[in-house]
Amino acid sequence: MIADLLREPRVAPSILAADYSRLGAQLDEVMRAGARVVHVDVMDGHFVPPISIGPVVIESIGEQVRAVGGALDVHLMIEPPEPQITLFAAAGAGLITIHHEATADPRRALEQVRASGCLAGLAIKPATPPEAVEALGDVIDLVICMSVEPGWGGQRFMPASLAKLERLRSLIGEGVALEVDGGVDLETIGPCAAAGASVFVAGSSVFGAPDPGAAYAALATAAGAR
Ligand code: DX5
Ligand code: ZN
Repeated sequence: MIADLLREPRVAPSILAADYSRLGAQLDEVMRAGARVVHVDVMDGHFVPPISIGPVVIESIGEQVRAVGGALDVHLMIEPPEPQITLFAAAGAGLITIHHEATADPRRALEQVRASGCLAGLAIKPATPPEAVEALGDVIDLVICMSVEPGWGGQRFMPASLAKLERLRSLIGEGVALEVDGGVDLETIGPCAAAGASVFVAGSSVFGAPDPGAAYAALATAAGAR
C-alpha cells in the first residue's frame, strides 16, 4: 500500500530518465537496491511541451512494481486532468498527482482521484505560491513542490525551492507527504530533507548514472531514506 510506503522518507526514481528499451531491467536494478515508490511523469504536449508516457506503460510495469510491495506515483502534467484520472487509476496507479495550474477546480479533481481508489497529490509549479495548497489540506495525501519548471528531466535544482519546501511543510503539517521533484541529486537531496521534504524524485541522478542501483542507494543514504 502506497500510504504505508509514504510514512517514511523515500527516494522515488523517475522512469522519465530510464532506457525504455530495457525498462523492466532498469526497474529491477533500483528495486533490488530498495526503491519502492516509482515516479511516472505523464506529459501531454499542451500543459508542458513534451509528450511522454501514458496508461499503457503504467499497465506494463505495475505488476513488477507491486510484486515487491512497491507502488506507482503518477505525476500528471496534463490539462485538464479530469477526463484521464479513472484511466490512470485503472492502469494501476497507486497515487495520482494533478497540477494546481491545470484545473479550474483542484478540489473536485483531487476528490475524483480519491474516488478512483488512489491517493491524491497536488503539484505546484515554481511560480505558484505555497499558499495554493492551504485550503485543500483535507483532500491531499501528498504535495509535489516542483523544483524545476515541469516538462524536462536533467534541469538544475532551483535554490528558492528550499524555502518553499519549509513553508509547505508548515502549511500541511507532518501527516501529509511532501515530494520534491526536479534536479534532486547527491548535492541537493540533503538540504531538501532538512527543509521538510519526505519524498525525493530522482530521474537523471539515478538512471543517468552508470549503476542506477548504487546511485539510488547513495541518494537514499544521503536523504536518510530507504
Ligand atoms: C519534470 C518531471 C520530473 C523529472 C525529474 O517535469 O516532473 O519528475 O523526471 O528529472 P530529474 O531528476 O532529472 O530532474
Ligand atoms: Zn515528476
